[in-house]
Parts: sequence; structure tokens; C-alpha cells
Amino acid sequence: MLKKLSLKSYAKLNLYLEVLKPRSDGYHDIKTVFEKIGLCDKIVLKARPDKKIKLTCNLPAVPKGQTNLAYRGAQLLRKALHIDQGVDIRIIKHIPVAAGLGGGSSNAASVLLGLNKLWGLALSKNKLARLAANIGSDVPFFIYDYPFAEGCGRGDKIRPLKAISGLRLWHILIVPKFGVSTPLIYKKWDKTLEKNKKAGLTRPGQDVKILTLALKARNSALLRESLFNSLEQVTVRLYPQIGRIREQLLRKGVKSILMSGSGPAVFGICSSKKEALFLYRQLKKDGMVKVFATRTARR
Ligand code: C5P
Repeated sequence: MLKKLSLKSYAKLNLYLEVLKPRSDGYHDIKTVFEKIGLCDKIVLKARPDKKIKLTCNLPAVPKGQTNLAYRGAQLLRKALHIDQGVDIRIIKHIPVAAGLGGGSSNAASVLLGLNKLWGLALSKNKLARLAANIGSDVPFFIYDYPFAEGCGRGDKIRPLKAISGLRLWHILIVPKFGVSTPLIYKKWDKTLEKNKKAGLTRPGQDVKILTLALKARNSALLRESLFNSLEQVTVRLYPQIGRIREQLLRKGVKSILMSGSGPAVFGICSSKKEALFLYRQLKKDGMVKVFATRTARR
């Protein structure tokens, strides 16, 4: 029987995030495009002789109990399937936390995928994704092997973007030192919506189809226009530093730039590996601490 398992837990970028409307359950209906990127954490799962779930992490600031989504994943699986086995979860963090990169959600999905093997559960990806949605809106995306996917509902209904499944993009990614609270950003978005409604303003989103087309055709002018994130303005207003990072990237010649999720991570789409590595070195020289040159994750 399998006793130990090691998994890569990838980060995501949102190439598109349109907040459609608030829902009665406290969430918002959104339309989003996820991309899985190579930046990843490592998760090691080890069977325990007792029934406990124990979580350790190389970063002391990461919670070790119920507030950790990976812990919650193990707990949920045990409860849902009436399992009385224990597990040691070791997380080695590389993905910045509370950055809009889905690190915690990805860790939870990796634990579900890993325990499905370690505990010999043979659950389908669809079943795992349905369980994953109880942990967080971003978790189902990480259950599937799709490099690019569209998310609807809370972001938990996943459909692969087959037209661009072979595409691999290079990115320059900058993460400011502070973290951002996702619920706070959505609350502020609600306020902006009310204000805009009163003023008779609506801000239409772009279109996932156009974005897919731009990516497929490698049409950089269209790509620049079709990257979209409803939350960006809200987060930038609270944290002007994000706007300054955007300007810094623009000055360096990056044209397609967007904030990921509720932020504060900002990424640019590069035309080549060479450009991504060049920018990485330049930004490091400028004193940027959390900079990554990363690309679409392989399946
Ligand atoms: O699903 P998750 O737990 O990651 O969401 C964190 C918070 O972000 C939610 O409690 C909610 O306030 C907000 N959220 C939302 N609509 C979504 C996703 C998240 O309002 N589609």
C-alpha cells in the first residue's frame, strides 16, 4: 500500500475576471479565465498510524489548523467518505500567500488529489471538483489538468479552453510585499457597483471568446485589449503601489499587463522566454524582491 506521496501544487493567473453580480449566498457570480503556471509549492503526504491530520509548513506564518485550506481538504474528504485514517501534510511554500495566485486553493486541491491515491479512493475528477467547491471557489480548477480553463458560477464551474490547450505563455510576475483580503475587495466592488448604478454608469466586461482568439492568433494588440479584471480598479484604489508596478512594467515595454484575482500580484505576458528573463533581471536590479519569470504549467 502507498505510504508517501509528493505532489507539485501550481499557482494560477486570471487572464480574465468579470464580476457579474452579487449572489444571495454572499458570493458573486463571475466569469473568469484561469491559467496554471509553473510557479509551485511542494506537498508531501505521509500516511499516519493514528487518525490525526498534522500539517507543517516551512513558512511559520502559514496556519496549521482548520484555517488552512489544505487541512480542510483532508478533513472534508475524511468526513464525506467516512474514512478514519490520518495523514501528515508537509507544505513547502514558494507561491506568495494572499497574492491572487491561488496558492492556498491549489494546496487544498493537491491534498484532495493526493489523498485520493494514498487512501485508494478512486474518486473521479468531477467528484473531487464537487467536493473541492466546498473548500473554496478556486479549488475545483486545480483538480483538473487543464492549462487554461473558463470558470463560471462562483468560479467553481470549470470548462477547459480547448482552443488554447497547447499554448504556453511566458510571464513576468511581480508580487508586492503586502497581502490582500479577497472578501474586502469584493465588498468594495459592491460599493462601487452601487455608486455606478446611481450615476447611471455600467462598465461592460470584455469577452472570453475574444481573449481566446487573441491568445490563439498571438495578436498582441487584441490581447492587450481583451485582458480584463473587474477587481483591479478596486484593489488599485486601496493599494496605489499596484498601479505603480503597472507603470513600471509599461515603461519597460510590457504591453499586456493585468492584476491576478483580487491582487496584489501583477503579471505581464511576454513574447518570449528571453524577454521574460531579461525583465526578471532588470526588475531584480531595480530592487524588486518578489519577481518571477514563469510560464504556463505543463500538464
Ligand atoms: O471561495 P473563497 O473562500 O475563496 O472566497 C473567499 C471570499 O471571497 C468569499 O467569502 C467572498 O467574500 C469572496 N468571493 C465572492 N465571490 C466569488 C469568490 C469569492 O464574493 N465568486
